[in-house]
Amino acid sequence: MMDKAFRTFYPEKEGLLGFHKILVSAVAPRPIAFVSTISASGVRNLSPFSYFNVFGANPPIAIFSASTTESGKDKDTLANIRATRECIVHIADRRISHQLSLSSAAFSSEVDEFERSGLTPTPGAHVKPYRVVEANVAFECVVQDIVPLGESRGSGNLAICRILMAHVANDVLDDSHQMVDPRKLRPIGRLGGEWYLETTPSGLFELPRPPTGEAMGIAAVLHCAPAASDLTPEEQATLACVAAPPDGESVDRFYEMWRQVVDTSEMSLDGIRQGLLQATRSALSKQNVAEAWVAVSAASRVKP
Ligand SMILES: Cc1cc2nc3c(=O)[nH]c(=O)nc-3n(C[C@H](O)[C@H](O)[C@H](O)COP(=O)(O)O)c2cc1C
Repeated sequence: MMDKAFRTFYPEKEGLLGFHKILVSAVAPRPIAFVSTISASGVRNLSPFSYFNVFGANPPIAIFSASTTESGKDKDTLANIRATRECIVHIADRRISHQLSLSSAAFSSEVDEFERSGLTPTPGAHVKPYRVVEANVAFECVVQDIVPLGESRGSGNLAICRILMAHVANDVLDDSHQMVDPRKLRPIGRLGGEWYLETTPSGLFELPRPPTGEAMGIAAVLHCAPAASDLTPEEQATLACVAAPPDGESVDRFYEMWRQVVDTSEMSLDGIRQGLLQATRSALSKQNVAEAWVAVSAASRVKP
């Protein structure tokens, strides 16, 4: 594990393009802001930006970064937000990915990019830029600040956007109607080269949250339940997410229930221990951490 070989990369040695390749292929997948702006003279622009994320909820802030071009000129998006201080940030899915990519072409600033990309504009509710009807999520924003990160080509310019409100298509809300369901939104992300990622149900997984207070940590797990040393580091880390181990009574109850299902009369002590460890793994695979804990605690009581 420790003898893995690493190659080192330094921005000064790799040059702008070389280090850019490392950055965008390693920091991946990145969410994509599909940004709609309007120029001072009313020309509509659309462009994707994967230097993007949200950075706070109170106030709600989204930031994307438009790099300084070869010629040192602002990209149209940047020029537009300097002039109008408004934008709409959309979240795209695969259905509109080709049109999103098309909108990244270097069209002249006089060109209406809704027309060029074939996407449908509808007026913003609170800002002048138009919203892309086909996108299932859109955030209407005012641009609070534009922060240059350098002076030369390739340097970023952070557009710090205060989100006024969100449009979310009913089709992508979860059953509570309070959250977006990733299985319905299926947002796309950008990786290095020409790679994109579609969020698909098979790629999703859930992790139990650590408790709001302090979590046990792996050393305490191995101390309280030594049988956990037979589990993988991932399994141990899942157990370590709880605040405290179960009490002795819950372990007794679990063991009695387990013995009603598994006939232990002909089993060796090691067989019983292995059976309980199997029950631990099975509970962990179903994200049932409470059951995994009583099972591994029971396994730890068996001394073969
Ligand atoms: C998926 C994707 C992500 C992109 N991300 C960025 C980015 O984060 N920053 C940037 O400056 N350009 C990015 N680009 C390139 C811009 O979209 C491109 O330069 C575009 O022409 C800018 O358009 P504008 O001049 O109309 O603003 C990206 C392109 C694609 C296809």
